Amino acid sequence: MSDEPLVLGIETSCDETGVGLVRGHTLLADAVASSVDEHARFGGVVPEVASRAHLEAMVPTIERACETAGVSLGDVDAIAVTSGPGLVGALLVGVAAAKALSVGLDKPLYGVNHLASHVAVDQLEHGPLPEPCLAMLVSGGHSSLLLVEDVTTGVEPLGSTIDDAAGEAFDKVARLLGLPFPGGPHIDRAARSGSSVAIDFPRGLTSRRDLERHRFDFSFSGLKTAVARWVEARESSGEPVPVGDVAASFQEAVCDVLVRKALDACVDRGVEDLLIGGGVAANSRLRSLAEERAAKHGIRVRVPRPGLCTDNGAMVAALGAEMVVRGREPSTLDIPADSSLPVTEVLL
Ligand code: KG4
Ligand code: ZN
Repeated sequence: MSDEPLVLGIETSCDETGVGLVRGHTLLADAVASSVDEHARFGGVVPEVASRAHLEAMVPTIERACETAGVSLGDVDAIAVTSGPGLVGALLVGVAAAKALSVGLDKPLYGVNHLASHVAVDQLEHGPLPEPCLAMLVSGGHSSLLLVEDVTTGVEPLGSTIDDAAGEAFDKVARLLGLPFPGGPHIDRAARSGSSVAIDFPRGLTSRRDLERHRFDFSFSGLKTAVARWVEARESSGEPVPVGDVAASFQEAVCDVLVRKALDACVDRGVEDLLIGGGVAANSRLRSLAEERAAKHGIRVRVPRPGLCTDNGAMVAALGAEMVVRGREPSTLDIPADSSLPVTEVLL
């Protein structure tokens, strides 16, 4: 029997009910139930619908994770849960379930930060995390650049989006082009049949003046508006919209800015490892552009496989296991679900 801790992680910050089981750095199970189909007709996540779906999925997802890992709840050494940030009603379901398990099993509880979990998950795939590293987290809910000195205690935010998240921009542009929700994978696919230089879409917050105040921040709402105007102009002139070209040129504008700013932050802070996480990290162009440009600066890029990039329970278990291994004090049973938990609070 291994003496590494067996940690059960619960994630319910948005529309995925995730339950993961991790022993040390080894992934044993990653069960995810998504309510994404229930939100599709609304073009975005409906909080009340997500909360209800978490309630229904929680117990079956825990059972599925245990079955896959071949363990019983009695074997678990600690419970970790996403305390925030996220949708408060959705977070509450996970936090309540984790507290119940902690009390019922008499095992320590770790209430952790969702963003730090997106960073910690990478070690399930690529081994111990290089620290310090620069983490770029890009999803439907967040776009942040983080300097990670110690994933269990020291995460410093360098920048984030000042309007839409990167994934949100993908979803909104996909909608404009008549592609289904969530739009990211559809834009990624459509872009393969188009040209990334067909349309010169704006790169947000990259002018010299903007860089003075927002060197490591992002803005995607101007880009989204530019795409909307371009498509409208085409439609009103009766010409067909070249979906592939719009998708490829839009995707290039997003990836160009993300990679440029992430590498600028690495160079500025003297960090040699860039980690990319969150749903948008699954984007094929983002991965290839980051690798191509990072190589020129001698910077290594780590991107977890797509299933670990999107929200899941294994990432929470991974961070929980790291808390146990590094001897961090567990949380108390009165921890809240904090929808706007700052990234500097890695453990509640
Ligand atoms: O991390 P995630 O599953 O959930 C949160 O938003 O927290 O990320 C979902 C987001 C959606 O906006 C989706 O469109 C985007 O990630 N996404 C992608 C790709 N796959 C998922 N965006 C661009 N390219 C992709 N291949
Ligand atoms: Zn996330």
